[in-house]
Amino acid sequence: MINPRVSLLKKSTTLKITALTKKLLKEGKDVVNFAAGEPDFDTPEFIKTAAKEAIDRGFTKYTPSTGIQELKEAVAAKLQEENNLIYSKDNIIITTGAKYALFVALFGLLDFGDEVIIPSPYWVSYPEMVKLIGANTVFLPTLQTDNFKINPKELEKVITAKTKILILNYPNNPTGVTYSKQELFHIYEVVKDKGIFVVSDEIYEVLTYDNKKHVSFASLGGAKDFTITVNGFSKTFSMTGWRMGYLAAPSDIINEISKIIDHTTSCACSISQQAALAALRDKNWKDNVRAKFQERRDLLLSGLSGCDKLRALKPEGTFYMFCDVSRTGLSSFDFSTKLLERELVSCIPADAFGKEGFVRLSFSTDTQQISKGVKRIKRFINNG
Ligand SMILES: Cc1ncc(COP(=O)(O)O)c(C=O)c1O
Repeated sequence: MINPRVSLLKKSTTLKITALTKKLLKEGKDVVNFAAGEPDFDTPEFIKTAAKEAIDRGFTKYTPSTGIQELKEAVAAKLQEENNLIYSKDNIIITTGAKYALFVALFGLLDFGDEVIIPSPYWVSYPEMVKLIGANTVFLPTLQTDNFKINPKELEKVITAKTKILILNYPNNPTGVTYSKQELFHIYEVVKDKGIFVVSDEIYEVLTYDNKKHVSFASLGGAKDFTITVNGFSKTFSMTGWRMGYLAAPSDIINEISKIIDHTTSCACSISQQAALAALRDKNWKDNVRAKFQERRDLLLSGLSGCDKLRALKPEGTFYMFCDVSRTGLSSFDFSTKLLERELVSCIPADAFGKEGFVRLSFSTDTQQISKGVKRIKRFINNG
């Protein structure tokens, strides 16, 4: 029979709604897609070219399990230049997407019964991964009145002798909030002497708006010794299908985790690794993509600003807008399904992220679609 921990896993709501939206679009329905979890534009040409060249020169075999040396060196250089983190290639593992980096980080550290603190609202896969591994999730609710940021005093209260990991994710999916250096430092002060690991998922770092600078948790004080930083290429370079991610950690942890890679995926895709190498060499794409998403965020925010029954939280990063729909009297799920049925606008009900009364709107679609979607949402709300 099936492993009971697998039976307990939930299907991903976000993937389900994304699949339904794609199906409706394929059928020719005029759906406004505010459900997407990936950038709407194509992978840049210079990245595709690098992959085609890799195929043509036969770079199509297994690579070392932790990734090719040039890419690990390029990741280490990027972390030094952009994140103020000094690592060598021996601190890096290239993985099959950031999702697998997260999974091997958790699997590598956790034993049965260990506790993992997950601030909520949370990205859907964290609790499911913890469940699969046989550890226990301890949710740390963040409050609307704190702008959905971790309250260090509340964090302190949920740490027990069994706490093994704190998962951080900023800019945050689904809330769009991020943390300043000072805010991160308050978290660091709470965890630093507790023998806890921090798994810091910074996959949306490039999408940090209003000239704010992304700060890596591992760059604070001695945090590097107990932090695994996870990042990837999916969101920044519109490479979701290439499955390219990485983690950076102390070398003893890398040595252990690399054994999991050896015996599961063997290595990340060789062609995608060459594509990722080209992505890291680029200097312009990130600024362009950030500017584009900021423009879209501003359009969506101003469009929804007069809407009394839907209150949007201004995203500081990511391409997600977290919206309070509780004043409509509908549950998150009813709001999303009725909006899709009546107005052909798809979004994700935030009960999937552990927060009833909210929905997540993704502004990963062009400005025309955003304007159309805003009109439809307002009509939906006004028609009660
Ligand atoms: C917070 C967060 N972390 C990790 C991932 C996984 O990204 P990847 O495509 O690199 O596996 C996602 C993707 O939706 C995400 O939203």
